[in-house]
Formats: sequence, structure tokens, C-alpha cells
Amino acid sequence: MSVVSPESKLPPGPRGSFATGNLLDYTRDHLGFLTRCAREYGDVTRLRFVNVPVYLLNHPDHIEYVLVRNNRNFIKSRGERVSLGFLGQGLLTSEGSFWRRQRRLAQPAFHRERVAAYGEVMVESAERMSATWRDGEVRDVHRDMMRLTLEIVAKTLFGVPLQPAQFEEIGGALAVIAERFTGRGGVFFQVPERIPTPGNLRFRQALRTLDALIYGIIRGRRATGEADGEEDGGGDDLLSMLLAARDEDTGEGMGDKQLRDEVMTILLAGHETTANALSWTWRLLARHPEIEDTLHEELKEVLAGRPPAIGDLSWLRYTDAIVKESLRLYPPAWAFGREAVGDCEIGGYHVPAGTQLIMSQWVMHRDPRYYEDPLKFRPERWLDGSTSMLPGYAYFPFGGGPRLCIGQSFAKMEAVLLLATIARSFRLRSAPGERVTLRPSITLRPGDGMWMVLQKR
Ligand code: HEM
Repeated sequence: MSVVSPESKLPPGPRGSFATGNLLDYTRDHLGFLTRCAREYGDVTRLRFVNVPVYLLNHPDHIEYVLVRNNRNFIKSRGERVSLGFLGQGLLTSEGSFWRRQRRLAQPAFHRERVAAYGEVMVESAERMSATWRDGEVRDVHRDMMRLTLEIVAKTLFGVPLQPAQFEEIGGALAVIAERFTGRGGVFFQVPERIPTPGNLRFRQALRTLDALIYGIIRGRRATGEADGEEDGGGDDLLSMLLAARDEDTGEGMGDKQLRDEVMTILLAGHETTANALSWTWRLLARHPEIEDTLHEELKEVLAGRPPAIGDLSWLRYTDAIVKESLRLYPPAWAFGREAVGDCEIGGYHVPAGTQLIMSQWVMHRDPRYYEDPLKFRPERWLDGSTSMLPGYAYFPFGGGPRLCIGQSFAKMEAVLLLATIARSFRLRSAPGERVTLRPSITLRPGDGMWMVLQKR
């Protein structure tokens, strides 16, 4: 059945060059270009990346239509399928009934009560890290946040205490992977690259490093399980659930390659995003000392000098609003895409099968139609009722619909607990002469780290 009305027409959009369409303008400045398109052409902008038709959607209803109401008509975008191909058939990249089964298997590890149990590890890890910080020291705080969130995800979900050398290895490998998606078409337009250029060779080496680590984790857990006579490796975390899972028809367990894909996906999706959120939050606080003061007042009142715990979360309302506002202005997932499987209509425009759709949190979260003073960092907007009437998808840092981020509660809790734990002991100030750049890679990273001066409180 066709859902396309006869009067539907093509959306407006900027003219591009004959050969590459709008790809070069996009490549030059991902965030600026998408923002200009949305402001100039409205809720649906037509673009072309070489020969690929791309529509940018910038209305909450359209985003909801794709993610929720008609989600079965969309799969992950072509660019993401290629660029995230190294994640194999993990949760982020698989589709259809296979994805649904894997999601059902992993879900219990992310249930609210389960996630609450991870709180203690989060606070302890943050305390251990801040105990190594020195007053007056200048540090790349982004690097510290990456290490901290990686340590937490590895420990809580896979039961693995990572060693210092492994942090270095993983950090180096991730930087190489992120670099590949900066510039050119970013995540949305990747040419499969089999040619052994220096960049490709570095990329393959980075993947080998991560694979060696992850297969090591899996082998280690299988060995412990066998020694104890337990199929799940003897733990009660996500890895154990995956190891214990059996196919309903064949009774077989998951092979090492599938386990590798799931573990790699969670390790990557589960730490860099939250680390970015925290890094941008530290920067925003350094630039808004009056907001930082209000944060400190709340911490003093609620915690009375002790470290935070799960039970404090409902009282740390201002801390929570800071995280929400930081995720609005600097959404770690700054845009993501889908491909239309069948023809459909969005906003009165015909969307032929095969069209690539981009939805950008960066653009939507800064839209003046929905946010008063959209560029201003104002956590109060989440407390004073001014955002209570927002349409659902004017704010979607974690996506939505069936593919909503599985780690949403984990990440929200982690961000609030780490912020509260560290802010109890330190103020962070931008290092003199520091120029932080935005690097919209797979996630929205600071370009060359986030160098800050630590001030003991
Ligand atoms: C601030 C932190 C985070 C942000 C902003 C974020 C954002 C997102 C977004 C936007 C999606 C949807 C992508 C799409 O629909 O194409 C997603 C999916 C996903 N996220 Fe997160 N995420 C965060 C933290 C986490 C954490 C902590 C974990 C795991 C521990 C995680 C694991 C995943 C996984 C596995 C998926 C794929 C889910 C599926 O398709 O079934 N994320 N995330």
C-alpha cells in the first residue's frame, strides 16, 4: 500500500556541486552546516552526498515518526553501517529479529535495580581517581574521564579490573578509530577502504589491539566458569548473562565472535559518551562559576560532607539539571541516521526507499523555537517548568523508540554520581591559553583534550 500522497513534493535544500553535492560543505563543518540548513530550509532539508539522497529532519514530530511511530520502516543509515561495521553484529549495529533477541538478552543487566547496584563502584572509582589529583596541577581532564568511565563499564558489566597499561592501549586505539571519522563525510558518508593507506593500517592495528583485549576477557571468563563447572563464567554481570544465553531452537550458546561484537559495542558505547558528557560539563562549570556555586551548595546540603550514594540521587536535583543541560548543549551523540526501507512521507514530502535520514541532537537541542535563549547554559530551565511543555523529541540525547540507548539509566546515574563525587573535592578551571575545539566524530569529543587546572576545595 502506498503512503505517498499524489501532491507530495521534494523538500528544499542548498545547491551543491555537480559531482559531490553537499558533501564538501558538510565535511568542512558538520555542526555548522547542519545548523544552517535547518535554520534556512526548515523541518526537512534535502541534501545530496555524491549520489546519495540525504534528508535532514529537524522537527520533533518527524523524529518521533522515524524512531517510534513508523520505526519498522527504517534501518541504521548506510554510512553508519559502513563506518560502524567494525562492531559486527553487536547491539548498536544489528537489525531485525537478531537484534531483538540480543536486546532481550542484555536488557536485564540494565534494569533499574540492577543499575543501582553499580552506583557504589562508580563512586569508589571516582574517589580513587580524585585522590591521585593534586592541587594546582594542570591535567587533560578528558583523558581522566575516559579512563574513569572505561574502568567503570569494564568492572560493572564485565567484572574485569583493567590494568594501567590496558587503559593506555585502549585510549590509543580509540583515538585512532575516532580520527577516522573526523573530517570527510564523518560517520554518515564512508567509502569502504580496503587500500592499505597509513590511516587504514593504523585503524586495523587499533582494532587488533581491542580484539586481543576483548577475546582475552572472554577466554578468561570461560576458563573461570569451566573450572567452577558453571556455564555463565560464574558471575552475575552482563558477560555472564551473554555466556549463559542459549538459542531457543538449537540450544547452542553464543560463539566467541558474537560475544566479541557485544562486548566491543558496550565497552565503546558505554564509556566514551559519558566521558564526553562529563568533560563538557566541567568546561561549562568552569565558565559559569555562579552555577558551580549553586552545585556546591546542593552538595553541601544533601551530602553533608560524605560521598554520594544511590539514595541521594532524588535529592540532587540541581546536579541532575546540570547534567541534563550539558547533554542538551553538548550532546555526546550529536547526530544519528536511518535509511528508509520503503517509500513514505514525512512533513508532506515524499521519502523514497533508500533515502538516508539524519536527525541531529546538536541542531534540535539549540532550536530557538523550543528553547528560550538556546545557547545559554541554564540548568534552571529543567527545574522552573519552562521545559515541561516541550514536545518529546525536542530533546533526545539518548535517541528513542525501540532502539533507545540501553545504557540510559546507567549513564544518567553515572554522570550525576561522578560529578557530585569529584566536585566535592575539586573545582576545575580552564588552563591559561587553552582553546578547546569541538570534534564531531562518532561522538562529540573535545579535539585536543580538555586541559584544566585543578583547585582543591
Ligand atoms: C551520556 C551517555 C550516552 C549517550 C548520550 C548515549 C546515546 C545513545 C544514542 C543516541 C543511542 C541510539 C542510537 C540510534 O538509535 O541509532 C544509543 C544506543 C546505544 N547505547 Fe548509548 N548513550 C550513552 C551511554 C551509554 C552507556 C553507558 C551504554 C552501556 C553501558 C550505552 C550503550 C548503548 C547501546 C548498546 C546502544 C544500542 C542500543 C540498541 O540499538 O538496542 N550507551 N546511545
